[in-house]
Amino acid sequence: MEDAFGLIVPCATALPGYEAALAQGWSPNTTRDVSAEELARLRADPAAFLRAVLHPPPTITMADGSEVPRLPGCVLWMWDGAFCGAINLRHQFGTEALPPHVSGHVGYAVVPWKRRRGYATRALALMLPVAARAGLARVELTCDADNDASRRVIEANGGVRQPGLRDAEGHPKLAFWVPTGRPDA
Ligand SMILES: CC(C)(COP(=O)(O)OP(=O)(O)OC[C@H]1O[C@@H](n2cnc3c(N)ncnc32)[C@H](O)[C@@H]1OP(=O)(O)O)[C@@H](O)C(=O)NCCC(=O)NCCS
Repeated sequence: MEDAFGLIVPCATALPGYEAALAQGWSPNTTRDVSAEELARLRADPAAFLRAVLHPPPTITMADGSEVPRLPGCVLWMWDGAFCGAINLRHQFGTEALPPHVSGHVGYAVVPWKRRRGYATRALALMLPVAARAGLARVELTCDADNDASRRVIEANGGVRQPGLRDAEGHPKLAFWVPTGRPDA
């Protein structure tokens, strides 16, 4: 029987499931396919890989290869007794604004064999209080205009669509604000 679904801090217990997901081509990053490069780093040194997940380097590589500063934030893994996916939060202290290269406060990806079970919807719901504790009254999320699953995840969590389309490297994106439930919102 599977355990209850929740978010966990990345840990050695869940690492084999994360590795198996990478080995099957799953990428935690939805703007750039990082599965092969992460798999190589994980297999070279699992402990160092986990340390880097928990304490990532100060810069991040964009899809065009450029390096930009990494925002504060956290990554949590989805877990139902097995590894199910990842969700991350990134933000700037004291403001809800994001730099132009950051496509939203929250990103998530579920492994293909655990999709359509409500996991992404529940993961976002569990991440909202984390965002509230980081000082955010609302988070901005974007998804490709044709990503119905992600749009429904956002709407199920109270997402309110912003007018127009956001252009992200040639892809039309829908943008939403999702309230975090922070009482001073
Ligand atoms: C988007 C994604 C995270 C959704 O994960 P999930 O755990 O399957 O989502 P849920 O089970 O919570 O489903 C949310 C809703 O989307 C619907 N849905 C799920 N997959 C769908 C699909 N392929 N097409 C249409 N609707 C879909 C579900 O039926 C559900 O609808 P409902 O609330 O009306 O019942 C997952 O498909 C994924 O990892 N995709 C690749 C990465 C990605 O696109 N990340 C988001 C970037 S913005």
